[in-house]
Amino acid sequence: MSNYHIKHLEEYYQVYRKSLRYPEVFWGEIAEEHFVWRKLWDNVLEYDFSKPSIKWFDGAKLNITENCIDRHLRIRGDKTAILFEPNNPDEEAQHITYNQLSERVNQFANVLKNQGIKKGDRVCIYLPMIPELAISLLACARIGAIHSVVFAGFSSTALATRIQDASCKMVITSDGSYRGKKTIDLKGIVDEAVDQCESIETVLVAKRIQSDIRMKDGRDKWLQPLLDEASTICEPEIMDAEDPLFILYTSGSTGSPKGMVHTTGGYMVNTAYTFKNVFNYKENDVYWCTADIGWITGHSYIVYGPLANGATTVMFEGVPTYPDYGRFWEVVEKHKITQFYTAPTAIRALAKESLDFVDKYDLSSLKVLGTVGEPINEEAWHWYNDNIGKKKCPIVDTWWQTETGGMMISPIPFATPTKPTYATLPLPGVQLALMDENGQEIKGNQVDGRLCVKFPWPSMARTIWGNHQRYKETYFSAYKNMYFTGDGALRDEVGYYRITGRVDDVIIVSGHNLGTAPIEDAINEHPAVAESAIVGYPHDVKGNALYGYVILKEIGEGRNHDNLRKEINQIITEHIGPIAKLDKIQFTVGLPKTRSGKIMRRILRKIAHNEMDNLGDISTLLNPEVVASIIDERL
Ligand code: PRX
Repeated sequence: MSNYHIKHLEEYYQVYRKSLRYPEVFWGEIAEEHFVWRKLWDNVLEYDFSKPSIKWFDGAKLNITENCIDRHLRIRGDKTAILFEPNNPDEEAQHITYNQLSERVNQFANVLKNQGIKKGDRVCIYLPMIPELAISLLACARIGAIHSVVFAGFSSTALATRIQDASCKMVITSDGSYRGKKTIDLKGIVDEAVDQCESIETVLVAKRIQSDIRMKDGRDKWLQPLLDEASTICEPEIMDAEDPLFILYTSGSTGSPKGMVHTTGGYMVNTAYTFKNVFNYKENDVYWCTADIGWITGHSYIVYGPLANGATTVMFEGVPTYPDYGRFWEVVEKHKITQFYTAPTAIRALAKESLDFVDKYDLSSLKVLGTVGEPINEEAWHWYNDNIGKKKCPIVDTWWQTETGGMMISPIPFATPTKPTYATLPLPGVQLALMDENGQEIKGNQVDGRLCVKFPWPSMARTIWGNHQRYKETYFSAYKNMYFTGDGALRDEVGYYRITGRVDDVIIVSGHNLGTAPIEDAINEHPAVAESAIVGYPHDVKGNALYGYVILKEIGEGRNHDNLRKEINQIITEHIGPIAKLDKIQFTVGLPKTRSGKIMRRILRKIAHNEMDNLGDISTLLNPEVVASIIDERL
């Protein structure tokens, strides 16, 4: 018998030990007892980190939508599967039952088929947080098409890059989106992107804001009439456990975004298992994760993990600040939310406002609070614990990544005692290591190092789309036989982990991963810019904000700096999206470089952090003299 739901600390340790000693027995039992397979696997696990090649449940056959939808129909067909809360609180919420979800997913799947989409084709989804978004993921999965969701805040250039990288055949979008007081012309962004993408044959358009948009003949089609004509029955495509389920792009420290490929069986088992345990999920709960489905958190913990457990999962279209700072708490009261999962940046933004926005609402339905995406500082942790959880709800600080597919380190509520700012203990099946800079594992407690994982877990990404070599180099080359996370962590005296942040050039701004290279490339496109370098610096709401050092060409010299700053941020918005805008831009005569010409970001980071006393040895630089002038001109 598997221990599917851990209830106390002793049990956690027991299960954890079993998962270390007998990983295949551990995962095999969970997979067999709690999911529907058309055929069981030949082997639970086969792997070789040197290639790297990782296969879980190889030989097994399944369709993830049978697990997320069909198997629930008999027992909970009339239960709400997706609870849609619109941007505007005056618009009515929609309760989509499992029966209705089944019909809508099947219809959508038939539309995809009728439009020529087949198993293995890539479909790009660029939608706001409306039910069609979750439904389109499931419709792709129903027919074995690989979905590639692009967060609908990315610019047309960023969208085009991602469509081209995966050679998507179709884009699913909407006429526009609501975001607080604003409306956004999503279709216009898609038009600009698709003009550069030869692989796209069809653009399906959902109606959301009823705007008057241009539809390109032969390419663009309104979704609703096609759905109306489609049958509500679509036999699921039977997939291999290792067939790709989706691609999701994440920033790297260098180069273009990486299309992380997740496969079907292991991803399903791990996201469902972690959802159940980390949220202490029970049948009548109403669970709300405030992330966007454009990120991994939404894939795993709005769509697949909750639905595989037959849960009610809330999809929120709006923003935490509209119509006022009480919106989250109003929704918690209205839908009697039991588990609430958000990001530290949202907590910090709301904690700055008056407590009246919280105290107006009855939050007594809450049982478990979650946080994800970046380290949570002590102050935010306590604010969340005191004012939202009323000191009664355990906070699950969940550490994981796009690449890990599911949660890796987290307390299990009512079992693991929590500790502010600590993600605490590895979840069952997760074997961690802290490594030093010489490639040695640091054993024992009260140590810090680079966080690695020593053994495969079922939901790990299997490759980078179209570039397995890059997958190997990025994750499996820093340390032999280990997956390297890119994060630093410390382990305290009882073995609890605290994530200290990225050790590479990825900067997490408001919980969004941003690589420095694409932002610098965008800035350098400005005709007045010669060179640039970006670093992060601490920000009380966003966690980190971006500080740009920019060298101007001669043509930029006499120009008004404020105007240039605006233009630079405009270019970044066009190339990546508003999330990557710089908070500070300092124009400088030079950038500190090593003798081999590499920018010394360490020094720039210290200056941005205002830690000038501690710059280290700068005498070996190619141009040590620029450091003084950068300090003089610091913003
Ligand atoms: O640095 C870690 C940070 O977010 C990175 C992964 O970002 P992404 O792939 O966008 O996925 C975010 C949602 C899973 C990690 O390498 N991170 C994530 N969760 C935490 C965290 N840092 C500290 N504490 C966390 N709980």
